[in-house]
Amino acid sequence: MIIAIDGPAASGKGTLAKKLAAHLGLPHLDTGLLYRATARALLDADGRLDDARAAVAAARGLALTDFDEARLRGRAMGEAASVVAAIPAVRETLAAAQRSFALRPEGAVLDGRDIGTVICPEADVKIFVTASPQTRAQRRALELAGRGEPADYAAILEDIRVRDERDSSRAVAPLRAAPDAHALDTTALDVEAAFRAALRFLPAAG
Ligand code: CDP
Repeated sequence: MIIAIDGPAASGKGTLAKKLAAHLGLPHLDTGLLYRATARALLDADGRLDDARAAVAAARGLALTDFDEARLRGRAMGEAASVVAAIPAVRETLAAAQRSFALRPEGAVLDGRDIGTVICPEADVKIFVTASPQTRAQRRALELAGRGEPADYAAILEDIRVRDERDSSRAVAPLRAAPDAHALDTTALDVEAAFRAALRFLPAAG
């Protein structure tokens, strides 16, 4: 079974994907990490984020496992990822790896922005996770504070607005719910409630 989970920054899609994968015993790929790692590799080599050729080379060089999440999860890297993610050739390069992950015999859970629309349009279950920008900014601030990063709520809310706009308006694979996706608004739901709501979208066992 392939489960595709999409949604904007800090909507809760990653947490939900992890919980569903653990519950179902399926492998999970957080596709945002691929874009974050591409941006990180570019910046580590003193490259520019809008240099398409260098960005594709960085994307090609990624190992799909062993991401150094501590270096990738920061606020600046989310923003940088969204810039390289708007380069069509980068998306094309990373698409193949995501598709082959999804096509494992046992299935997989993938979360991102274009999983249900572009990477796995054939997914068995698609969930589009949203939450109000204010709620998402609060969650991100808590997450950053938990990691000891500065967590200025107003700046994070602004980041979220800028990123929503860039991710939704780009020409290739914009952030959009697939027509057959289940909508899940987690504004008023905690992690457990969101998980229970998502379980209702799964096909009945047996
Ligand atoms: O957790 P958060 O949503 O902040 O970040 P993420 O999911 O790691 O994604 C970081 C950025 O990568 C996003 O703002 C998107 O621009 C890009 N991305 C994408 O374009 N397509 C994906 N499948 C996943 C991420």
